[in-house]
Amino acid sequence: MFSSIQPGQPSIEPAILKASAFGEDFHWGVAIAAAQNEGAVQEDGRSLSIWDVFARRKGAIKKGAKPSVACDFYHRYKDDILLAKALGFNSFRFSISWSRVLPDGSGKVNEAGIRFYNEVIDECLRVGLIPFVTLYHWDLPQVLQQEGGWESPLINRWFKHFAKICAKAFGDRVKHWLVLNEPVGFTSLGYMLGKHAPGKKSLEGFLKSVHHAALAQADGGRVLRQYIPDAKIGTTFSCSEIIPYTDRPEDLQAARRLDLLMNRLFIEPLLGKGFPEDDMGLMDKMWRQNQSWKYVDRMQFDMDFIGLQNYFPVVVKHSPFIPILQATEVKPAVRKVPHTAMGWEINPASFYNIIKRFWKYGAIRELMITENGAAFKDTLSQGRVNDPERIAYFQSHLAALLQAKKEGIKISGYFAWTLMDNFEWAEGYEARFGLVHVDFKTQLRTIKDSGHWWKELFRT
Ligand code: FCB
Repeated sequence: MFSSIQPGQPSIEPAILKASAFGEDFHWGVAIAAAQNEGAVQEDGRSLSIWDVFARRKGAIKKGAKPSVACDFYHRYKDDILLAKALGFNSFRFSISWSRVLPDGSGKVNEAGIRFYNEVIDECLRVGLIPFVTLYHWDLPQVLQQEGGWESPLINRWFKHFAKICAKAFGDRVKHWLVLNEPVGFTSLGYMLGKHAPGKKSLEGFLKSVHHAALAQADGGRVLRQYIPDAKIGTTFSCSEIIPYTDRPEDLQAARRLDLLMNRLFIEPLLGKGFPEDDMGLMDKMWRQNQSWKYVDRMQFDMDFIGLQNYFPVVVKHSPFIPILQATEVKPAVRKVPHTAMGWEINPASFYNIIKRFWKYGAIRELMITENGAAFKDTLSQGRVNDPERIAYFQSHLAALLQAKKEGIKISGYFAWTLMDNFEWAEGYEARFGLVHVDFKTQLRTIKDSGHWWKELFRT
């Protein structure tokens, strides 16, 4: 049986870290997202997003939690931006709520929405944080979902329009952009597994949404390039090292199939390779259904950087009971390896391996880690959150990153997920990933020990 550290994997010791070892112009940031932080879902002309509607569905979200208030970032952005600065970061990643800027999804611009993001951007610049803006972090306007959402071919026109509005409104000050957040995440969880908004469960719908998202990530890049010629443009991918449970051929094949879905599905079309071929018949279906061979050129875009988002590896074995994939995860708890409160394995060596793996494509100009972090069961006691596991997580993952960097991989940034505890999608408010604790009844913020640890890292 494989253990969490494979033979030949480096052991990543959390060395004594110095921020300066990562280079002078390294982007040190925290990342947040509109639907997870802003709240104020019906204020100043914003229309509902698919998450507002999905959250009303019984059983969709733990404890029936809703994103309606979240961290109230909409009203508290000044304090929160200052907090990110006070922790010592130099960059701040946030996303634009499509429904705030274009309540009808397309068409008329809501000036109040533009004003809000102008203020957020100006506040970042005022305190000395470089704004990194994600165009789409999973919160489609519900009005567009009613027209088919990511399953509709019209989504590509709607998305280009949204990208253009944002580029024109903010491009004079925002020079770092991310087109999509984790397209594998929102297409598979939202359109095939039904676990995220809009809660659909259909293979056909999934394949359509994948095709349209692969077009959107390249189209979005082109729109941003057209309107902001001096912008640094990237997009993000979730990624996980896939480790076969044994070296039996069926487990190796299961691992290859999962790898295709989790790691290769969106980067390869972006690099101009088209969709990866598989032995599941999935891509054949995709080619027939969406005629995606016609779009190989349009799905390609030369990004300035690729954002990798990694949290855990996946150990996988063959399972005849799982349709198409015929693969099932062997959970960290079963394997008795260290894991977070989400049940996600803690394995910095696999973080190093996945960085190397993406770099091997050879066609990537630059990498940034646009998300990495961990949820633990935090307790606030006497004004303090003692979270040594989170500190250890960051330490060991930064050490892994540094090792990859020293070996010549161009990595120009690291964004911790996340500034403060927030609305963690289907987990509601149960999963706390923040460097800052949020009391969701009072909105009181308390810097956790891990937040202080970051501050100390930047001070020395
Ligand atoms: C990523 C999402 C982010 C957050 C983290 C924990 O997949 O991009 O919004 O939920 O997971």
